[in-house]
Amino acid sequence: MTTVLAIETSCDETAVAIVNNRQVCSSIIASQIPVHQQYGGVVPEVASRQHLETLNQQIAQAMDESSMGWEQIDAIAATCAPGLVGALLVGLTSAKTLAMVHKKPFLGVHHLEGHIYATYLAQPTLYPPFLSLLVSGGHTSLIYVKDCGKYETLGETRDDAAGEAYDKVARLLKLGYPGGPIIDKLAQTGDTHAFALPEGKISLPGGGYHRYDASFSGLKTAVLRLVQQFEKHGRELPIADIAASFQETIAKALTKRAITCARDYKLDTIAVGGGVAANTGLRKHLQAAAGEHNIRALFPPLKYCTDNAAMIGCAAADHLARGHTSPLTLGVNSRLSL
Ligand code: KG4
Ligand code: ZN
Repeated sequence: MTTVLAIETSCDETAVAIVNNRQVCSSIIASQIPVHQQYGGVVPEVASRQHLETLNQQIAQAMDESSMGWEQIDAIAATCAPGLVGALLVGLTSAKTLAMVHKKPFLGVHHLEGHIYATYLAQPTLYPPFLSLLVSGGHTSLIYVKDCGKYETLGETRDDAAGEAYDKVARLLKLGYPGGPIIDKLAQTGDTHAFALPEGKISLPGGGYHRYDASFSGLKTAVLRLVQQFEKHGRELPIADIAASFQETIAKALTKRAITCARDYKLDTIAVGGGVAANTGLRKHLQAAAGEHNIRALFPPLKYCTDNAAMIGCAAADHLARGHTSPLTLGVNSRLSL
């Protein structure tokens, strides 16, 4: 068993966790959402300052809640990429300092690898190979998980990520930030067939469409045009119907690509990760389609869909068990691919 103290500060959650392989001993997540809400989105400089102000206290709280002493911690890990540079630096520097002071190995973890490992936290028997559908504010990817640290990206978004599309559409509907949970809730009361919206297919040069890549910027523009039409005619916006139609389109587009990809590569499990994995529309559509094709669709518990440190610790524990560590000279990277 490997016990890791992990820190995640890549965006607007300051998170610390202690995990014992796939078992979470403590997990603290301090969301900065109320601070950024007044600006309508994440302000990088504000995010870094908030991480600095809260991180030490959260480390102490995570240790307290786990009832562990430093001698029981085998390694210290932190997210090193991708994300906001200043925000990443706060967590990574703290982790390196703790590793030096307590003489423990240090591991830098890729944020997307963390989201892949979030599914492991509730699935003691899940092992590669499987297909990961990563849908967050920054990414929409289909990743062939071959082994710990061995990943092949099979599909991506060509423009906006799924979560980004949610956030942008919520902004243009004046619903607030972050858009995903707000639209998800509103969509429950709307008509999913009220408006036909484009799913964003990527044309191939020789004809036909790309089977795994997605594009959500056209969908966002279609919602904008819809809003403009209603405003032009002075009609009240049917917000719940727009939210439901938008959610249905994204959920179906993601489901279609994930199922096609899993079948092409003969993978019997799709593990979904990232903030949009919390989405009720996606859960419903993917689970139904997966069932029809004898594929297992696994979702992390809701609290581990959005950013958290338990997923980072779980990934780090697996790497450490294979003898992997990172040098203390490791830097942060805002754009590193998996
Ligand atoms: O994984 P995450 O916490 O941060 C990134 O790594 O980006 O994902 C945040 C994203 C935001 O865009 C948020 O709007 C979206 O996940 N999100 C949702 C839901 N909950 C969060 N999108 C759709 N439905 C939800 N229920
Ligand atoms: Zn994330």
